[in-house]
Amino acid sequence: MSEKTLAIIKPDAVKKGVIGKIISRIEDEKFKITAMRLAKLTKDEAKGFYIVHNDKPFYGPLTDFMSSGPIVLMRLEREDAIAHWRKIMGATDPAKAEPGTLRRLYGSSIENNATHGSDAPETAAWELAYFFKG
Ligand code: RTP
Ligand code: MG
Repeated sequence: MSEKTLAIIKPDAVKKGVIGKIISRIEDEKFKITAMRLAKLTKDEAKGFYIVHNDKPFYGPLTDFMSSGPIVLMRLEREDAIAHWRKIMGATDPAKAEPGTLRRLYGSSIENNATHGSDAPETAAWELAYFFKG
């Protein structure tokens, strides 16, 4: 069954100039990109997006980083999209991510880890509604 997930190319990957490489991989993996836009989050928009982490020590640095430069927001669709996109991204910490995953290839630290992906159907629905109204 087709499923939707939110993918983000984070500020570090945009700065590195690997938007094209990441989108190319998305297409190779048979995702359909059904919505996409470049955005620059305000600190408050980043805080709202990562509200589930508001009690974590990394909430401040994470939301500073996510509002530090342009990002690419995408709605991806395919069978098993949520789990498949997380598999392609690899582990949160690029050093622990499998070779060939996007975070291993393009991330440089647990914070500067190149990409985001929703982690469950409920969070995917909430995150997609956060950035793609209507
Ligand atoms: P994401 O939400 O960005 O797709 O990443 P994730 O599910 O793999 O990781 P999550 O636990 O949801 O954490 C969200 C983002 O917070 C940063 N983080 N920093 N300094 C730290 O210990 C730490 N832990 C997490 C990462 O940028 C992570 O992607
Ligand atoms: Mg997460």
